[in-house]
Amino acid sequence: MSYTNTLNLFSPVKKYGIEFSNAIAMAPMTRSRALGSVPNDLMATYYEQRAGAGLIITEGNSPSPNGIGYARTPGIYSAEQIAGWKKVTTAVHAKGGKIFTQLMHVGRVSHSANMPAGTKILAPSAIQAAGDMWTDVQGLQPKEKPEAMTHDEIKTAIAEFTRAAINAIDAGFDGVELHGANGYLLEQFLNPNTNQRTDEYGGSIEKRSRFVLEVTEAVVNAIGKEKVGIRLSPYNVFNDMALYSEIAATYTYLAEQLSKLDILYLHVIDYAARTSEEGLTLLKSIRNTFGNILILNGGYTRERAEQALANREADMISFGTPFISNPDLHYRLKHGIALQESNPDTFYTPDSKGYTDYAFASQNVLA
Ligand SMILES: Cc1cc2nc3c(=O)[nH]c(=O)nc-3n(C[C@H](O)[C@H](O)[C@H](O)COP(=O)(O)O)c2cc1C
Repeated sequence: MSYTNTLNLFSPVKKYGIEFSNAIAMAPMTRSRALGSVPNDLMATYYEQRAGAGLIITEGNSPSPNGIGYARTPGIYSAEQIAGWKKVTTAVHAKGGKIFTQLMHVGRVSHSANMPAGTKILAPSAIQAAGDMWTDVQGLQPKEKPEAMTHDEIKTAIAEFTRAAINAIDAGFDGVELHGANGYLLEQFLNPNTNQRTDEYGGSIEKRSRFVLEVTEAVVNAIGKEKVGIRLSPYNVFNDMALYSEIAATYTYLAEQLSKLDILYLHVIDYAARTSEEGLTLLKSIRNTFGNILILNGGYTRERAEQALANREADMISFGTPFISNPDLHYRLKHGIALQESNPDTFYTPDSKGYTDYAFASQNVLA
């Protein structure tokens, strides 16, 4: 099998005519600075500062008013939002960066106090997620029970993802990443604990995977396979996603089907999978099945990232928290400069503190 692999964190990664300047991706991170769900100048500055990454993947960006679950998170369904995102993509491109946006529909991980008027909390089945969520108006609140999606609501959601992908290209993004990880809507369909449907979208592995694959196919048809990636997190129990016996079989099937759709990349959060033999076997099988770019994520350091590339386990590595506090992460990694610690207290606060004020190691950040 031929890999897209560069074997080196600092060499370009090329596929389908797109070139990422290095193998370092910035992982998608919700930062809750999008007041009114509209991207703004502060966000443009934040992403521009991080343009040295080979690929920036934005924070979760909702394809639908129904898909906004957290306070101050952005969407990409209105003209105002598209205009706001244009500022972000223009700033990143001016610095030579590449930027995809993560299309994230939260499904049941939601609270109505964070949602626009006239919206509904929707999920494959009416099963409430355990745990609380922050709302600006009412403080911490238990996540609310979702309504089970009707057949029409499923078709509408697919159309919303498709429209959002087209909007993303209009806004200047180089592509989109579908958020199939971390217990949000797409994964809620995959997992039999959150999907107890008895129609063609629930039951067998093929049926539970149908929504994810239909969304992917519709988005591919709308913007092109070379502009589409997807994020998955097998064995991850974040957002009250219980484990189930068919995890390996489900993700093996998904990798086969996504491979047929020939999308640009697969982005796997691997830390949960790495804790068992079964998970490690699954990661190898995904690697062997999916021939395009494989991005791995989850607690990587420079050393572990280089090892993973050298061992051909991945083509790119994404870093999350290190990018929060090191806007010039690629430069620091390349030159062995110590990383700054990030401050979790300001991960989701509304202003520039802990967002755009982390220091650069050098003025020459794109070197
Ligand atoms: C503040 C914060 C926000 C996050 N928001 C998202 C998100 O919107 N979408 C997503 O897929 N993952 C999100 N994640 C998970 C990260 O993308 C990444 O998987 C995680 O931080 C592990 O990578 P790391 O060890 O390099 O930080 C978030 C993580 C953090 C710390």
